[in-house]
Order: sequence, then C-alpha cells, then structure tokens
Amino acid sequence: MSTSSQCRVCGGTVTEFFDFGRQPLSDAFLKPSADFSQEFFFRLAVGLCGTCTMVQLMEEVPRDRMFNEDYPYFSSGSTFMRSHFESLAKYLLANELTADDPFVVEMGCNDGVMLKTIADAGVRHLGVEPSASVADVAASKGVRVRKSFFEESTAREILAADGPADVIYAANTLCHIPYMDSILDGVAALLKPTGAFIFEDPYLGEIVARTSFDQIYDEHFYFFTLRSVQEMASRHGLELVDAERLTVHGGEVRYTLAPKGQRKPTEAMRKLLAEEEAQNLTDIATLRGFGAKVERNRDDLLAVLRKAKDEGKRVVAYGATAKSATVTNLAGIGPDLVEFVCDTTPAKQGRVTPGTHIPVREPSAFTSDYPDYALLFAWNHAEEIMAKETAFADAGGKWILYVPDVRLV
Ligand code: SAH
Ligand code: TYD
Ligand code: ZN
Repeated sequence: MSTSSQCRVCGGTVTEFFDFGRQPLSDAFLKPSADFSQEFFFRLAVGLCGTCTMVQLMEEVPRDRMFNEDYPYFSSGSTFMRSHFESLAKYLLANELTADDPFVVEMGCNDGVMLKTIADAGVRHLGVEPSASVADVAASKGVRVRKSFFEESTAREILAADGPADVIYAANTLCHIPYMDSILDGVAALLKPTGAFIFEDPYLGEIVARTSFDQIYDEHFYFFTLRSVQEMASRHGLELVDAERLTVHGGEVRYTLAPKGQRKPTEAMRKLLAEEEAQNLTDIATLRGFGAKVERNRDDLLAVLRKAKDEGKRVVAYGATAKSATVTNLAGIGPDLVEFVCDTTPAKQGRVTPGTHIPVREPSAFTSDYPDYALLFAWNHAEEIMAKETAFADAGGKWILYVPDVRLV
C-alpha cells in the first residue's frame, strides 16, 4: 500500500494524510439478491500535493463503474437544490448570457435541474452528461443533452458544431473528474475570450473546519481550495477571478475562471483567499489533525449506536446518500445497528446500501412507525428535512448527527 502518489493536476508528489480503508462504490445500491462476493471495493485514502497543494484521492475508480445507466442520484430530489439552481440560471441569463445568441454548456447537467430554466428561456445550451439514467430525464424536460463524458475531445467537437461558449458551468461535477488536464484544455478551447467557466464544489476549508469527512468518497476525487484552483487554472491559460461561499451541500465555493487577463479579480475573491491562508490548509499537519477528528467522530457515533441497541431502542437512518457509504463502511455500521434507511429516490428503494447492506425503504416506512432515533445521513439537507419531519420530533424522536461532531437533537 503506497502512501504517496503522483498529482493528477501537476505531476508532483501527493502525500497521504488519511486512510478510510476498504470502501465500495458510494452510489452502487445493490439488489438484495445480488452476489455480495462480487461487490467492487477500493482503498479510499486522501493526500496533499506538495507542489500545487491540491488535495485528492490516492486511488482512482474507473469512471464507467460510477457514471452509467444505473447512476441513481437525481439532482431534482431536493426542493432546496431546485431553487438554488433556478436562481443560478436566472443569474446567468441576466449577467453572463447577454450577448447576441449566447451559448451555455453544462458538464454534469444530471436531470436538467439547472438547464431547464435556460431551455425555457429559449437560450442556446448543451448539457454534457454520461449517465443515461439522469440524461434521459433531462432530455424529457426539453433540455438538449449530449450523452457523454466531457473531456478535451468533447469540447472540440462542441466547438466545431455549436461555436464557442459564453459560459461553461459545472456543479458538483468538476471535483468528480480526475483527468483535469483534458478538462481544462477543453474549457480553454471552448470558451469565448469574454466567457467564464463557473463551477461549484464542496470546499476543503469547510470540510476541515466542520469535520464533514463523508464528503470524501469515490466520486469526489478533488477537494478544492482557492489556492489549488488558482494553481490548476494558471497551467491552462485561465485565471481565478471570483469566488463565493455557498451554504448548499454543507458548504461549497462557487469559482469563476476566465481567460488570463480578461477580467479583474474581485475583492471578495481576495478576501476569501486571505481567510483561507489563515486556515493553513496547505500544511499536512492541519490535515492530519482533521484525520484525528474523523476517528473521534467515528468512535463517538459507534458508541451512541451501540448504546441505543443495548437499550433496545430502534434506529433508522434518513437519506441513502452517497456520502453515507464513507461513514457506514469506516465505522462498520450495518443492519445490526440501523434497521433501514429511508429515501425518496425510487431507484434506491428496495435495494441495500453499498458495502454495509442496510435495506433502503420508502419514506412512509419511517413516518408510519417512528423509530426512537433517526441517523441523519442527508445532514446537508437538515433544514429541509427537519422542517418536513416535525411530527417525528413531536413524537419524541431524536436526530443523531455526526457532523461537525456527534450529538442528539
Ligand atoms: N450538477 C448536478 C449533478 C451533480 S452529480 C448537481 O449539482 O446536482 C455529478 C454528475 O456529473 C453526474 O450526473 C455524473 O454523471 C456527471 N459526470 C461525471 N463525470 C462527468 C464528465 N466527465 N463530464 C460530464 N459529466 C460528468
Ligand atoms: P445528497 O446529500 O444530495 O447527495 P449525495 O448522495 O451526493 O451524498 O443526497 C440526498 C439523498 O437524500 C438523496 O438520495 C435523496 C434523499 N432525500 C430524501 O430522502 N428526503 C429528502 O427530503 C431529501 C432532501 C433528500
Ligand atoms: Zn499537484
């Protein structure tokens, strides 16, 4: 087992700082009848590049194993996220898509949650989405979709067919893509000189500050900071010109890159960069300290679940998130500790969770017979979920949270 690897951004040496051990594919919900001995596992570990400061996974999972016709994550499943992307689309229409006959490309458009608003406005667009399960839903909403992975060759084909883009956008997608050279060469080729590449992803500063360790799983290959984004952009003739913190998914940053020299970096970006420097995220000691907190959260969570079991209490989990694969497989939380996980996604219901094989059931299984405790795997949607499940708390139920630390509410 190697504790160093080669940086996928700059070729420098990546030094490992935490090992989550053997982990399954986070979105591979299995049929209960599946042959579990055939389940795919890999070693999930994270490291820091000593040269460009990019935090990244030590091992890469082949992309077709994760993003295919069985991909079960549908972005429109959260009301809150639907309105988040609608606002973003309206912002783009008003501020970036104002030229004559503008054109916007989205990588990882999923079920069309963002592009639907653009399509309805009659603006030229293209979603690039490899997972047929979700791409087909986007197409059924009137969104123009190309069913493929975005990479340099895709970008050049789009350029030849549709011309250059005013905006290239990616939400919770760029961090999923290890082959960054190909992506950024493609972006640089496809973007107009006046254009912008805008992307939003979980922020390392927030992951470390809040110990939100379950943001680390197979699909999340990179954990960006402003500093590491600046370094990777500059290798491809691009420049970080704006950065904005977002509260969605437990704390993200929306980055804007532009061709070098075309836009003036904002004051907000400089301020956030200064704040980030104070957090010492480029120091491996900071990241090892994060690892120690992960172990403490894991132990505390197991203690709470074991105590509940000893007392004969019922524990059900809420939200069969991809993230929860990291927690359950790290801590060894299976059906002996958690009765089932409820989730609104039909493609996950009737299946079992990856690696730990906890049954996934429809939300009515939760509401029709409240447990004593609900372990909130979808903690990033806490506000939305707690608002609709007030009857659970009224009935005396308690939520178990494990980010930023383990507690009952
Ligand atoms: N933008 C949505 C979806 C995020 S999930 C949201 O924020 O909710 C990540 C998506 O990226 C998946 O739909 C996956 O199929 C897609 N994806 C993965 N690799 C990709 C690539 N190389 N190009 C385009 N999309 C990709
Ligand atoms: P999410 O945390 O958005 O992402 P990831 O899978 O990348 O970790 O996943 C939310 C999951 O929770 C998704 O499967 C839908 C489910 N969910 C519910 O069951 N009920 C809800 O009210 C919400 C908001 C989500
Ligand atoms: Zn590097």
